[in-house]
Amino acid sequence: MESSEKPPFNLPQPRSEVEEMKPYKAPLEGRRNHLRLDFNENTIGPSPLVLEALKNIDSNEISIYPEYNGLQNAVKNNLNNTGIKHPLNPDQIGIFNGVDAAINAIFHAYAQRDDQLLTTTPTFGYYTPCAQMQGMRIVALPYEGKNFQFPLNKIREALKMGKPKLLLLCNPNNPTGSVISADVILKLSEDNPNTLVVVDELYESFDGDSVLPKINFNSTPNLVILRSLSKTAGLAGLRIGFTIGNSRVIDYIKRVTGPYDINSFAVKAAFAALKDQAYIDDYKAEVLRARDWIKDELISNRVEHHIAGGNYFLIWPKRESDEIEACLKNDGILVRNMRGKPLIEKSLRVSIGTQTQMQQFWDSYMKHECK
Ligand SMILES: Cc1ncc(COP(=O)(O)O)c(C=O)c1O
Repeated sequence: MESSEKPPFNLPQPRSEVEEMKPYKAPLEGRRNHLRLDFNENTIGPSPLVLEALKNIDSNEISIYPEYNGLQNAVKNNLNNTGIKHPLNPDQIGIFNGVDAAINAIFHAYAQRDDQLLTTTPTFGYYTPCAQMQGMRIVALPYEGKNFQFPLNKIREALKMGKPKLLLLCNPNNPTGSVISADVILKLSEDNPNTLVVVDELYESFDGDSVLPKINFNSTPNLVILRSLSKTAGLAGLRIGFTIGNSRVIDYIKRVTGPYDINSFAVKAAFAALKDQAYIDDYKAEVLRARDWIKDELISNRVEHHIAGGNYFLIWPKRESDEIEACLKNDGILVRNMRGKPLIEKSLRVSIGTQTQMQQFWDSYMKHECK
C-alpha cells in the first residue's frame, strides 16, 4: 500500500516522526556471486578460527540465551593491547548487533524532538534516519574544497551557536575518506561538555587517526567511540559492533536495547576473530598495499579520483557513472553509485580489497572507460 493511500480501516498510526522519516535503504540483494566492492566489507572472509568456532558450536549455545561478560573482557584486552594511554575496564565497552544498532541506540537514549544533530555531509547514510525517527533537527555541514577537508571552523561555530545534543563524526569519513586529527576531536569534546560526541571509527584501521590511544573517558565522558568487526575481521553478516566510552554513558546506551540482542553465533565468532589479531593485521596491511597500487594506477592514467583514509576511494568516470556501474556489474564487479550524495553526485565509491581484486576491478574499469 502506498503511504499516501488512506488505510481501509482505522489502523493505529505510528509516531509522526516515523511516518515522516526516510528509511535507510541499501542495495543488499543478489550480491553473493560478485566481487563486492560496494559495502567496504572485508573482501576475503574471516579468520579460519572463526569458521572453526562456528562449526564446532555446542547445541547448548543455541538453546541457551547468550552471555556477554567474557566478550566484553576479550574486547577490553584486545584494545588495551594496542598501547592505549588509559587502559579500559569492561564496563566501558558496550556490545551491539552491529554498529548500526549502536547508532540507533545512541539516538534513542540521548535525542528527543527538536534536539540538534550536528554532523557533516556527505557522510554515512544511517545517521539521518536515526535522527529523523527522534524528530531531531539536522545540521549537516559540507566538507570543504577539492580534498573534502573537515569543516573545522564551521563545526566549532555551530557547536557554539546551536548547542547540539549530538555531534556525529565519521573518522575517516565514509565516503570521502576525510580524516580528522584525534587531537582536534578531543579538543572539540572538551570544549563542548554538553554535547555527546560520537566518533564512528569503523575505518580507523585504514590510515585513520583514532582517539582511543589518548582518551581518558573519566575526564572526557562526553565522547563515545564506535568500532565494528564488519570491515576488518569479516563478520559483517554476523552483526557485531562496539561502543567504547565512559561507563555511565555506555550503560545509558545499553538500556534502550533488548537484553539478548546479540546472538550466540556472533559472540562465538567475535571471540575467535579477536584471538586471531594477526589475521586482521595481515588483511589491513594487504588493503593498504592494494590502495597504494590502485592510487599509482589512477594517478598515472590521469583518472579523476579522490583517495584518502578508509578502505575505499571515489572515482569520477568520463562516461556516465550509471553506465560504468552497469558495465562493471556485467563483469561481476559491484561498486557503489554516489547518486544523490551532495558534492560527489557523479562519482562511484570503490571498496579496496586485495591487490588481485583491485587488478580485476582496474582491468574491467579501463576496458569500459576507454572504449
Ligand atoms: C561509517 C559506518 N558506520 C557504521 C556502519 C555499520 O557497521 P556495522 O556493520 O557494524 O553495523 C557502516 C557500514 O557500512 C559504516 O560505513
